[in-house]
Amino acid sequence: MDLKKLLDIKYPILQGGMAHIAKGEFAGAVSSAGGLGIIGSGGMDTYELRENIRALRNITDNPFGVNLMMLRPDIDELIKVLLEEDVKIITVGAGTYEKFADKFISKNIKVLPVVSSPIQIKRYEALEPIAFIAEGLEAGGHIGQMTTITLIPQAIAQTKRPIIAAGGIASGREIFAAEVLGASGVQIGTGFLFTKECPIHENYKKLLLKSNSSKVTVIGNINGIPMRVLKNKMTREYQKLERNNSTLELENFTLGRLKKAVIEGDVENGSVMTGLSVGSFNSIISVKEYIEKLMSEYKEIKNEYKNKR
Ligand SMILES: Cc1cc2nc3c(=O)[nH]c(=O)nc-3n(C[C@H](O)[C@H](O)[C@H](O)COP(=O)(O)O)c2cc1C
Repeated sequence: MDLKKLLDIKYPILQGGMAHIAKGEFAGAVSSAGGLGIIGSGGMDTYELRENIRALRNITDNPFGVNLMMLRPDIDELIKVLLEEDVKIITVGAGTYEKFADKFISKNIKVLPVVSSPIQIKRYEALEPIAFIAEGLEAGGHIGQMTTITLIPQAIAQTKRPIIAAGGIASGREIFAAEVLGASGVQIGTGFLFTKECPIHENYKKLLLKSNSSKVTVIGNINGIPMRVLKNKMTREYQKLERNNSTLELENFTLGRLKKAVIEGDVENGSVMTGLSVGSFNSIISVKEYIEKLMSEYKEIKNEYKNKR
């Protein structure tokens, strides 16, 4: 089935749930522009989650989603809020949602697990998700081991459900490439950091604008779930510890560091998460302009290829 129909959205573009960043107003701007805005519940308590859902609904009646990290100790309470607020779309990462699957199905909640390997798809199939978000290692934040170009076709071979491509998608050209690979839509995180509505600290935005892919690194390859960020004092310190065989785990070392960068603007000691597409952007535009740009580039490139035949 067509992803736009499945999620009732105008464009097959999802804004990735981003902890401390994807607040109600920001995700609302994406949904009102015809994409699927996704509130990132990471960093929110139950009260804040409810407030953000309500803030989004003050902006638009269009569909939206909420991203959940299943390993959170307060996951039961967060899900209770989603049920009370009648949230209809959930994207899940970090852990399985097996315990809640029947409830979601009975309430007609559409669940989209974020996966980084075909084997994860196999594990989730029985839970009857509506689609999968397959995220390649080009993405910002926590990443898996496969590139988007290898992951998408192998994910498609694993399931009949729609696959949404994520990781490294910045322009209409990559949306077309994702379609050629067999994806039904895309999820973008990094690209949306370059928008006016994105509530990251000015220092974060300024640093992103000055950066390119050579400024990006991955930490946590040894002790932790690898994480793609911009190089800074924090990554140098962490990599030094890794070289010295420290047993310090990435999760403990980076605890609170994304908030430090996003809210406090401390881009030297904080986690400045970004994907490899960072070098594709040199200005800040509105969410609506970005989504329209993506779609017009996509159509233009698709036409160009049609005419080449
Ligand atoms: C700053 C930042 C924070 C992120 N936080 C989360 C998160 O809390 N939960 C999640 O499932 N994915 C998170 N992601 C991944 C995005 O939702 C999305 O899948 C990814 O950014 C897509 O790849 P791209 O960065 O190349 O566009 C984050 C990504 C970034 C850049």
